[in-house]
Amino acid sequence: MFNSFRPISLLLSQPFVHFQGENPKKPGAPNTVRLYSIASTRYGDSFDGRTASLCVRRAVYYDPETGKEDPSKKGICSNFLCDSKPGDKIQITGPSGKIMLLPEDDPNATHIMIGTGTGVAPFRGYLRRMFMEDVPSFKFGGLAWLFLGVANTDSLLYDEEFTNYLQQYPENFRYDKALSREQKNKSGGKMYVQDRIEEYSDEIFKLLDDGAHIYFCGLKGMMLGIQDTLKRVAEQRGESWDQKLSQLKKNKQWHVEVY
Ligand code: FDA
Ligand code: A2P
Repeated sequence: MFNSFRPISLLLSQPFVHFQGENPKKPGAPNTVRLYSIASTRYGDSFDGRTASLCVRRAVYYDPETGKEDPSKKGICSNFLCDSKPGDKIQITGPSGKIMLLPEDDPNATHIMIGTGTGVAPFRGYLRRMFMEDVPSFKFGGLAWLFLGVANTDSLLYDEEFTNYLQQYPENFRYDKALSREQKNKSGGKMYVQDRIEEYSDEIFKLLDDGAHIYFCGLKGMMLGIQDTLKRVAEQRGESWDQKLSQLKKNKQWHVEVY
């Protein structure tokens, strides 16, 4: 896991990370900032409010002709972060953005979280607030349902934490995985989060009708497949997806942050 994904202790919603060095695209100019989602709450992983966590994936480049890795084109900031050592200074600013802040007005609400890869980051923070922290103003009694898409069992992120919540709070937490390179969908193709959504579509639609929040975070590419699936399911149910979607957006139930 540490090879390609690196959890980094650094609350916020999204910090911008500044990093040393010269911008390769603009000689003489400093590197530009990159955005990373925060994977902890304001208390941090050590509950003292002095750290924040990021979940960073190394961006590597494979030459399309040879299929070999070309280190000269590796991602600058992600590799800088993944190669950092305890004690290294990392300049961060932010947070910015409110899309992925957990709405805490109703502690009994339902939150359906759909994430791929490092898109799990904000959900990991939500789940800590719901199940690990003792915050008097937010005693969670609702339902949190996480759909996580990764390549295989080895690339699952925070699985131990999530499995613990499942054992401790079976009434309040559901956790469904889509392991694209280990599981097949019903057509024999890769198992993606949208296939899991389809599998549970009746329940998901009912929860949305009852006011559930739904969040999407991770690969931009997943949104097309997800929207197609939701549209197809809505049509099978004799509903208009376009109308439903605009209602969800109007009610502030629909939260998307993809990259
Ligand atoms: P860099 O910007 O240097 O390169 C981008 C890509 O181009 C890389 O894949 C690199 O290999 C490739 N490349 C380099 N040179 C090339 C060349 N000559 N020809 C072709 N390709 C070349 N990420 C994450 O890991 N965790 C997170 O939680 C988030 N959250 C997040 C939230 C939001 C709102 C956004 C917009 C983005 C994220 N990201 C993220 C992504 C993150 O901001 C960043 O884009 C990636 O870490 C890649 O940044 P690098 O500096 O490593 O790659
Ligand atoms: P795969 O790479 O097997 O096609 P990543 O590790 O690149 O962040 O991806 C996280 C997960 O999202 C992987 O299981 C990846 O599958 C999957 N994925 C890739 N493309 C899509 C897509 N269009 N819709 C849903 N999931 C996707």
